[in-house]
Amino acid sequence: MSRLVVADPSHIKSIYRESYALWGAGLTRRDYLGLWNEISSTAWARENARFYVWLGPGGEVLSSLKAYRPKLQLLGECGRAIVLGAIFTPRARRRRGHAAAAVRAALDVGREDGSNVALLFSDIGTRYYDTFGFREIPAEEQWGPLSAGTDDTPAGWTLRDMRDEDLSTVIAMHDAFCAARPFAVLRDPAHWEFVRTRAFGFFRRLGSAQVRQRWRVAECDGRVVGYLITVEGRGEWNVREVGALGGDFEGMADVLRVAAVEAARSGLRRFYAWLPRELVAHLSGWRIRSSSRRGAVPMIAALDGMAEFPALQVPGAAYIPYQDQF
Ligand SMILES: CC(C)(COP(=O)(O)OP(=O)(O)OC[C@H]1O[C@@H](n2cnc3c(N)ncnc32)[C@H](O)[C@@H]1OP(=O)(O)O)[C@@H](O)C(=O)NCCC(=O)NCCS
Repeated sequence: MSRLVVADPSHIKSIYRESYALWGAGLTRRDYLGLWNEISSTAWARENARFYVWLGPGGEVLSSLKAYRPKLQLLGECGRAIVLGAIFTPRARRRRGHAAAAVRAALDVGREDGSNVALLFSDIGTRYYDTFGFREIPAEEQWGPLSAGTDDTPAGWTLRDMRDEDLSTVIAMHDAFCAARPFAVLRDPAHWEFVRTRAFGFFRRLGSAQVRQRWRVAECDGRVVGYLITVEGRGEWNVREVGALGGDFEGMADVLRVAAVEAARSGLRRFYAWLPRELVAHLSGWRIRSSSRRGAVPMIAALDGMAEFPALQVPGAAYIPYQDQF
């Protein structure tokens, strides 16, 4: 009988040998595997991340996926989610229902584990995952030109690289922001360490001269008032997360204004982001275009009999920072 089991290193190696072509993201094959080994050894991942394989009766790998178990705040309730990622069936075994069986088994694990909902980010459209009860969370992404000529930047604000001692302030800003959202992945310090290990582990291995990641804080009068995570290169300023004191949208807009001027002066010409709609509304003067997200489309499924999630079905209502897209 087929079964879902936690992958051992030889299973992971065999899956990665094939999935590298799809998800290697510019890393060498060795670094691609090394990154997973580094991420999965963090305290948060040891507790909350699993690489599963769906094994056939003879122990052969029929399909595979990763499952994460973050804390989630959904419509005023706190709980756990199971987040499925990297769903992969070896090419020779596709179209025989193996991924479907693995997904269903993983959802059962989530249910038994007390997760209220399941999440995933689909790269293959939404129809396949509809069949397991997942519903699209309509998401809007924004892009536009960057201009160094804006004069609405807040006076006295400066940016510098984030340091370890900033982390407690950054976490408080992020928590304050999450508290007011209909949907948020909540990160305790161990989860932040996981997120930082993954992000820095990836860019350290990539070692690209063309693309760099920046974790920065904004200061005013010597006090940290905001933070910003970006990826910059090839002319693009990619905003991955922004925060401000009290989770305040005007403060977040100020962080973006200061940083955008700096980014434009450094030669970047356009921005790309997925930002909360309320924040976009504060960026008057920016030429922002929006469209529905096509890649990594967020989807949610209720595991405990909850009905649909009407509050999340409003276009633009949901926002999931890049670091929570697993
Ligand atoms: C997607 C994938 C995991 C499906 O594995 P599988 O074991 O063949 O899955 P199942 O047999 O349960 O279902 C097959 C169905 O998946 C859906 N599917 C597979 N690839 C798809 C794609 N690129 N776009 C849309 N639907 C797709 C189709 O509905 C397909 O049925 P069909 O071929 O009759 O149209 C496998 O194709 C794969 O590993 N692809 C590469 C990795 C990937 O894209 N993973 C998904 C990330 S969100």
